[in-house]
Amino acid sequence: MNAQSKTRKNLESAFAGEAMAFRRYLYFGEIARELGNEEVAQLFEKTAKDEFGHAVAHLQLLHPKNDMTVEKLLDIAAQGELYETNQMYPEFEREATEEGDAAAVAEFREQAAESLGHAEMFKTAAKRFKSFGKVEKHHAQGYLDALAKVRAEQSAPREATV
Ligand SMILES: [Fe+2]
Ligand SMILES: [Fe+2]
Repeated sequence: MNAQSKTRKNLESAFAGEAMAFRRYLYFGEIARELGNEEVAQLFEKTAKDEFGHAVAHLQLLHPKNDMTVEKLLDIAAQGELYETNQMYPEFEREATEEGDAAAVAEFREQAAESLGHAEMFKTAAKRFKSFGKVEKHHAQGYLDALAKVRAEQSAPREATV
């Protein structure tokens, strides 16, 4: 599935919708319980569980486990956070300002800053992972060199001892 495919876009939307339903129903359940309706609270919680399963099914098609590496995971996560901090929230903040919604302006601003923090954490982890990979490679090369040396010594003709 290429990055521009319609199905990929639809899976992203379906994932967003199901993930939203999951969280929204948990929240509704919490409110129903606070309002004293345990039966409805449990209905929301049970449905939320199903929505979670739907969301995960879409995710598995979007990011099949077999295609993933630690680097890819961190990169996808960092790109998502950067989109939020650089594009999504600034635009939302501007529109909330136009509409004079101070609470939304404050929330968008706060979450843009948090997204930037998350993006930086993911990027730092990716860098650490990369340098860790280099160290591992260096170690592996060291073992290979040592092994080659041992083999060369074993195959070299022995010096006469008499
Ligand atoms: Fe669903
Ligand atoms: Fe975030």
